Amino acid sequence: MIPEYLTNYLKTLSAQNRRLFDSPLVWLFDPPELPLDPRSQFPTLQRTFLEIGFGHGEVLEELVVRHSNTAFVGIERRPFRVRKALKRLQRAGVSNVALIRANLDLVDRPLFVENSFDGILVNHPDPWPKRRHERHRFFQPARMDWLASILSPGGQIEVTSDQAAYFFTILHLFETDARFDSLLPPPFYTAEQEPGRPVSRFERHKRAAGEIVRLLRFRKI
Ligand SMILES: C[S@@+](CC[C@H](N)C(=O)[O-])C[C@H]1O[C@@H](n2cnc3c(N)ncnc32)[C@H](O)[C@@H]1O
Repeated sequence: MIPEYLTNYLKTLSAQNRRLFDSPLVWLFDPPELPLDPRSQFPTLQRTFLEIGFGHGEVLEELVVRHSNTAFVGIERRPFRVRKALKRLQRAGVSNVALIRANLDLVDRPLFVENSFDGILVNHPDPWPKRRHERHRFFQPARMDWLASILSPGGQIEVTSDQAAYFFTILHLFETDARFDSLLPPPFYTAEQEPGRPVSRFERHKRAAGEIVRLLRFRKI
């Protein structure tokens, strides 16, 4: 039984999104349409890729432009950021992307069908450093089930963070999950800048301030 406020969240969200966004690059859906199927949304494209919490969308834009044969889905809860990313993508003249404005914490039914994505990216998930706020963190044991279900076998997930404690909590979740295998050698992460990897303004500022940004990359077995 889904609590009423969650059913209402999806209903309210879909109505609000229809008012806020009028673009083919925004994926508008009604609750009964869930779970969404990105592969049938983009039937002519070969691969599918999800960015969670794309912020202002700089990284998403770079990836979308670079990989025209991949269908990208981006999720972000803040409408203003979705709007900003939308402007960038419209300017870039691309069509291989669909933005979803939603707060993943409030979507309690499957958002995507199984094996929806060949790649998932989560750059700088909010750290919620206070102990009493930890339950708001994106990476929780239950979230691993969701990620494992929407990632196709052989698909990759990449996570970066400058928040050491949270990063190592996330790394532990992946290391101890038999459904995932590290694509990086021990210690299963890198703090080196990888050439060609798109970097957001947020991350550039962190690096310029001398913060260590760590990256993990796992494959779903
Ligand atoms: C610290 S920012 C990082 C933004 C971007 N990935 C970057 O590296 O510059 C985290 C982003 O995730 C989004 N976010 C956090 N929790 C979310 C949730 N539950 N559902 C959807 N988006 C979320 C925030 O709104 C924010 O834009």
